[in-house]
Amino acid sequence: MQAIFPVAGLGSRMFPATKSVPKELLTILNKPIIHYVVEEAIDAGIEEIILVTSREKQPILEYFKKPKKNELNNSINFFHKKLKISTVFQEKPLGLGHAILCAKHLIKNDFFGIFLPDEVLLENNKVIDFKNMMKYLKKNCEGQILVEKVSKKEVSSYGIVQLESPKFKSNGNMRIKKILEKPSFTKSINNYRVVGRYILPKDIFSFLEKTKTSSNNEIELTDAINKMIGDRKLNINACLNNSEIYDCGSVKGFVGANIAFSLLNNELRKYVKALIND
Ligand code: UTP
Repeated sequence: MQAIFPVAGLGSRMFPATKSVPKELLTILNKPIIHYVVEEAIDAGIEEIILVTSREKQPILEYFKKPKKNELNNSINFFHKKLKISTVFQEKPLGLGHAILCAKHLIKNDFFGIFLPDEVLLENNKVIDFKNMMKYLKKNCEGQILVEKVSKKEVSSYGIVQLESPKFKSNGNMRIKKILEKPSFTKSINNYRVVGRYILPKDIFSFLEKTKTSSNNEIELTDAINKMIGDRKLNINACLNNSEIYDCGSVKGFVGANIAFSLLNNELRKYVKALIND
């Protein structure tokens, strides 16, 4: 499966760090955020990554350039794996939907993946969420979106799905009735937010082409998905998360990820625990 990695966003929530460093290259411990997400994609079976980037974010392309062989570079494991990396440019930051549209000509199969590389997943019990989504794609031949439960207060900060029934069945997979971008909370909407992992049918491109820009001059992927579900009756399912999810595009998530990964590190665990308990 191919996966689009949109990395052309401005990263204003992480300013001023993002004045000169793309947010995807900020690090959790000593490894860039995007490196974790590429490893996750490889573990899920992704064979090609399509980076959608901007001209200002050349350092990301530098990071993925195959390096000269030396001992330090040998520790970068994705260069050893069979992973194809392609690049396209988004010339203007016209939103996530527009970024996905920029990769249209490179998509070969009926379904493709999307990984938003500022969301880092820390897997629980060795369950890789994206692998789970691929399992359901095989089963029902329908698109999948990873979701996580959030508090009612947080609903207005995320894309929110409305499920066909109020609650998930035990398998954690359910059809989506509606998907809304940053809605104000109303009783009819579940508080399951979209996490940046999608498997979508190629049909989404024709809906993206027809999607008008929103009030902030962006083409929203959420709007196109919602239209696709409503107009064409193309089913998309929500897959409930197993992982811990850190939104590293925000200071809170970035700090959380650094603490969580430190606590998993044998050399840092004691030190960080002592700092927190102080
Ligand atoms: P975000 O909503 O996190 O936006 O984008 P952002 O611009 O990166 O960050 P803030 O909100 O200014 O802090 C979600 C994903 O969509 C990509 C981002 O790179 C991120 O992976 N994106 C967003 C694009 O590729 N192009 C865009 O025009 C907008």
